Amino acid sequence: MFSRYSKPAKNAKAAPDLKAVDGGRATPSAPSQNGSNSKRATPPPHATRRQAPVQAAKPPQADKERKRKERLGEIKTDLHKELLDNLNLGALETAAEKDLRAEITDITSEFLNTRDVVLTRDERLLLNQELYDEVRGLGPLEPLLQDETINDILVNGPQQVFVERAGKLELTDVAFKDERHLLRIIDKIVSAVGRRVDESNPHVDARLADGSRFNAMVPPIAVDGSLVSIRKFKKDKLGIDELVSFGAFSEEMAAFLQAAVATRLNVIVSGGTGSGKTTSLNALSSFIDNSERILTIEDTAELQLQQTHVGRMESRPANVEGKGAVSQRDCLKNALRMRPDRIIVGETRGEEVIDMLQAMNTGHDGSMTTIHANSARDAVSRLENMIAMAGIEMPIKAVRSQIASAVNLIVQASRLQDGSRRMVSITEITGMEGDVISMQEVFRYERLGLAPDGKIIGRFNATGVRSHYSERFRQWGYDLPASIYEPWSD
Ligand SMILES: Nc1ncnc2c1ncn2[C@@H]1O[C@H](COP(=O)(O)OP(=O)(O)OP(=O)(O)O)[C@@H](O)[C@H]1O
Ligand SMILES: [Mg+2]
Repeated sequence: MFSRYSKPAKNAKAAPDLKAVDGGRATPSAPSQNGSNSKRATPPPHATRRQAPVQAAKPPQADKERKRKERLGEIKTDLHKELLDNLNLGALETAAEKDLRAEITDITSEFLNTRDVVLTRDERLLLNQELYDEVRGLGPLEPLLQDETINDILVNGPQQVFVERAGKLELTDVAFKDERHLLRIIDKIVSAVGRRVDESNPHVDARLADGSRFNAMVPPIAVDGSLVSIRKFKKDKLGIDELVSFGAFSEEMAAFLQAAVATRLNVIVSGGTGSGKTTSLNALSSFIDNSERILTIEDTAELQLQQTHVGRMESRPANVEGKGAVSQRDCLKNALRMRPDRIIVGETRGEEVIDMLQAMNTGHDGSMTTIHANSARDAVSRLENMIAMAGIEMPIKAVRSQIASAVNLIVQASRLQDGSRRMVSITEITGMEGDVISMQEVFRYERLGLAPDGKIIGRFNATGVRSHYSERFRQWGYDLPASIYEPWSD
C-alpha cells in the first residue's frame, strides 16, 4: 500500500547528500551545517561568482529605435480607431479568427499605403497581432497571458507592468496607451464575467474564463492609475513529484504527508500571499482515495482535483444592488448536507471558520484548508481571532480546545527571499497543556547559507520527534520507517 518512501542507505556518507537541496536540485556538496568556512571544500556548482554582464555602450541607434517605436505606437492608435470605425463590431464576437485576421490585415495594408508607411515583414506581423489582440483579446496583456512561464501579471497604472517568473518580479516593456486604454481592457474583462467596475464600484475580484484569478482597483481609489493583478491559472498544477523535484519539500516529507492525508488527518496549509498554499493543498489532495466524495469550496475556483467524485463550489459576492451574495459559509453549511467524505475550503478567512472546525470535529475528518499566517503558532492565533471576530463568545480555553481537537497538522508554506517556494515546516497539534495548545514540529527547512548568486542554500530535515500519529499510520497500513524521523547530522 505504501510505496512512496525509500530512504538511501544509512552508510551513504561518501555518497552525494541528496537531502541538501538548492533551488530544487540535489546538490552533492552543501556547506557544513556548523558554518565553518574552512570546511567548504568543494563549493557548490552555483558558488562560482558569475561575471557581471558588461554593460554595452548605448548605440546611437537606440535613440532612433525609440523614436521608431513611438511612431509605431502612434500608428497603432490611429489604426485601432480606423479598425473600430470599419469593422462591424456586432459581428466581431462571432467572426471566425481567420476572417477577422484577414480583415485586419486588409485594413492595415490600406492604412499603411495611404500614409506611405513602410514596415518590415516582422513589424507588420507584430502590428497585425497586436491589433487582433486589441480587438478580440486583452490588448497588451494578451502576450503575457499566453506566456506559460509567467505566473502573475501586476499592472500599476498604464505605464508599468510587472510579471512574476520563477518566483522573481520583472518589469516588462509592456504598456497601455493611457489610463483610458487600461480601463477599457479592465472593462472588457469584467463585463465578460457579468461584473462592473467604475468610480462608484471601484474594485472587483473575478475569475477569468480560463480560470485565472483577476483583481482590479480603479481610480480614484487607485491613485496613480488602475491597479490590476492576475494570478494565471496553471492548466497542469504542480504535483507532488514535481514539487519534490523543485525542492518544495523532501521525499520524506511527501511520504509523511501521504500518510497524513490518506489516514484522514485534518490539515491546514498556512502561508503568506503567493507562498504556494493553493498549490500545496492541490498536491496534497492527490493522496485522497479515488472512492471518496470530495466537496471543494473556494472564493475563486482554483483547485484541480484528480479524483472522480468531486463537487466544486464557488462563493459569489453581492451584485451592484448589494444582493445575491453567497458566502463561503453558506456553501460550507450546505456542503455538510451533501454527504461529503471530505471538505476542502480553498482559504479560510472569516466566519466560515466555525463551520470548518465543526466539520473537522464531527465526522468530516480528512478535511483541508489554507490560512494566511506566518507560522504554525500564528495560524492557530489567526483561527482564534477569526472565531472571535465571527462574534462567537466562548472562553479562550474552549476555543483552543476546539481548535486542538479539530486540527491535526499545520503545513507551513513560504516564499523565500530568493523567490523559491518551500514547505518550511510540518507541525502536529498534539493536544492541550493547561490553556495552551501543544504542538510539535516534525520536519523543517534549515537554512545553511547564501550562495553568491543570491540563492539560499538549505536542506529539509527531521527534527528528531516521532510523529504523534505514527501508531495511526501503522494501523492504516502506512508503516513509515522510524528512520524518517531521524535528523541528518553532519
Ligand atoms: N514549489 C513551487 N515551485 C515553483 N512555483 C510554485 C511552487 N508553489 C507554487 N508555485 C507557483 O507560485 C504561484 C503562487 O502559488 P499559489 O497560488 O499556490 O500561492 P497561494 O499561497 O495560494 O497564493 P494566494 O495567497 O495569492 O492565494 C503559482 O503560480 C504557482 O504555480
Ligand atoms: Mg491561494
